[in-house]
Parts: sequence; C-alpha cells; structure tokens
Amino acid sequence: MSTIRVSGPIPGGTSSTFSQIAKCLAEDGYAITSDFLLPGNAADLVEEISTLWKDGTYRHAAVGRGDGKQIRSEIRSDHVHWIAPEAMTTPQERYCAHMEALRLALNHELFLGLFDFETHLACFPAGAHYKAHLDRHSQSEDRIISAVTYLNSDWTSADGGILRLYTDRLAGIEGPFIDIIPEFGKLALFLSGDFWHEVLPAHRERHSITGWFRRRPI
Ligand code: OGA
Ligand code: MN
Repeated sequence: MSTIRVSGPIPGGTSSTFSQIAKCLAEDGYAITSDFLLPGNAADLVEEISTLWKDGTYRHAAVGRGDGKQIRSEIRSDHVHWIAPEAMTTPQERYCAHMEALRLALNHELFLGLFDFETHLACFPAGAHYKAHLDRHSQSEDRIISAVTYLNSDWTSADGGILRLYTDRLAGIEGPFIDIIPEFGKLALFLSGDFWHEVLPAHRERHSITGWFRRRPI
C-alpha cells in the first residue's frame, strides 16, 4: 500500500497548509489533511448538523443526473442536505469562506480555473455505503476537485465507513488503494474525474461535508 501524503497537521487556514495541499494535488492528484477544519468552526458545524439530521432535512442521495436521476440504495445509501448559497447559516458561511480561501490558493498555485464550489452535508446511517464510482458525471466535466471534510469524533477503523481511494488512475479498482479514516476535521481532496473511490459500510452514523470545486462548463 502506498504512503498517504499527509499535509498538516497545521491549524487550517494558513497559506503553508494551502501550499502543501496544492503540492500534493499537483504531484499525486490527491491530498489528505488532518485538522483542516478551523477550531472556531468545528463545534458550531457539529451542533448544526446534528439538529438538521434529527429534524429530517436530509434526503436519500440519488445517482445519475437530470432525468436519469434515481434512488439506488444498492449503489449508495447515504442521505444529503444541499447547502443553498443564498441561505447559508453562520457555520455554513464560515466553512464556505475557508473553502473559498482554498479555492483561491489552488487557482493561484495550480492555474486550475476553479470558479465555484457546490456542497452538501452528508450522513451515512449505520449500515450505509457508497459503491466504487467517479465523481464526474459522464455528461459533464465541470467537477474538477472533490473535497470531503469529516465531522466524526472518536472514529476508528473499527467503526467502518472508510473512504477507499484507488490511487492508480489507469488501474482504477483493480489497482492499489489507500484507506482514509473519516476522522474529525480531516479533509480529503482528489481529482474528481481521475480517482475511483468508495465508502465501505459505516457501523455507526457518519457525518461529513462533501463538495466539488468546479470549472466553467466548456
Ligand atoms: C461522495 C463520496 C466520500 C466520503 O459523496 O461522492 O464519494 O468519504 N463521498 O464520504
Ligand atoms: Mn464520490
């Protein structure tokens, strides 16, 4: 198994963290950062997410796009709550401001032309999984970088819910992989169109914020 290139743990938000992330992305196509979440944004997000989840504001996640969109729980059984840019709460605004700083840093260092970030809260209830997939839809190429921030305190590999990232872009699911434990405050970034990945069944409720930096549709 290859070594995970870990940037950090430096408290998030410093330009050196962003530079390390950009370097890992440029060299490997992915970057796993511990303690990315800003300390001031961690507790408020967790509190909000547990309320939104309990209030039933999440929906079964669908696969496919447009008219082809459907619920296929044998493929993915997570639930999502899209963040509406025009109606963000303070914790959501803080998170998105942090991701905006990352977007600008990545554009500056890697000339990626990322112009937008779309994001949803996600919950995998106990038993939920997401089979191996690519994040880029076949009809569109606008998703460039996938970004998943985890919000699970005291999570260990015994709790399941591992993000398995297949690191050989050509071999895909036949090739080597790294297993990422969805620990609190960790950020997993990878090129959306290149890296196959899956979420193994979670043994307890697993929370995250998942988003995509996008390029203008060509
Ligand atoms: C996704 C996804 C990974 C994770 O939502 O597309 O692959 O670790 N999530 O939650
Ligand atoms: Mn995915």
